[in-house]
Amino acid sequence: MEEVLDIVNKYNFYPEDVSFMLAFHADPRLTTFRHQGRVVGFALGKYFKKTPSKGESCFELDYVFIIPEHRGQGLFSRCLDDLFEKYKILYIPTREQNMIQILNKKGFKLDKVCLNGIDLSFRGIKS
Ligand SMILES: CC(C)(COP(=O)(O)OP(=O)(O)OC[C@H]1O[C@@H](n2cnc3c(N)ncnc32)[C@H](O)[C@@H]1OP(=O)(O)O)[C@@H](O)C(=O)NCCC(=O)NCCS
Repeated sequence: MEEVLDIVNKYNFYPEDVSFMLAFHADPRLTTFRHQGRVVGFALGKYFKKTPSKGESCFELDYVFIIPEHRGQGLFSRCLDDLFEKYKILYIPTREQNMIQILNKKGFKLDKVCLNGIDLSFRGIKS
């Protein structure tokens, strides 16, 4: 977790929000990506069930960051594959244009505007 905090601080990637979620969310799900033992990126989100009756397993991926020198090598694509192994529906809120392009390319659909009025939440369903 220390290495993740180092990354968000170094790259100024939502440092307060990521630290807050790791410290105070009841069940944060953190995955780290490593290269030669060193953390080069992470994905942080939370699991929930969409409705008690349907019981579909969902995951909201709130923050994902790959350090610049390791981008474009498929780490995020593999992360999505791994999440779809575990969860039926993925929600990804974002305001980042590059992420929106990637999600469109991967077949995610716009689900809603988030409560903060800034982020758009995209939904992907396991195929
Ligand atoms: C967005 C981000 C997580 C993508 O991670 P990545 O490991 O570089 O992505 P991948 O190498 O797995 O590429 C995924 C796909 O997106 C495409 N892609 C990668 N970067 C892209 C970009 N900037 N614009 C458009 N498409 C892009 C790739 O071609 C690939 O497509 P393919 O599966 O058809 O080959 C990474 O660039 C990043 O950390 N960016 C800064 C943080 C950020 O914006 N986070 C999202 C907001 S929470």
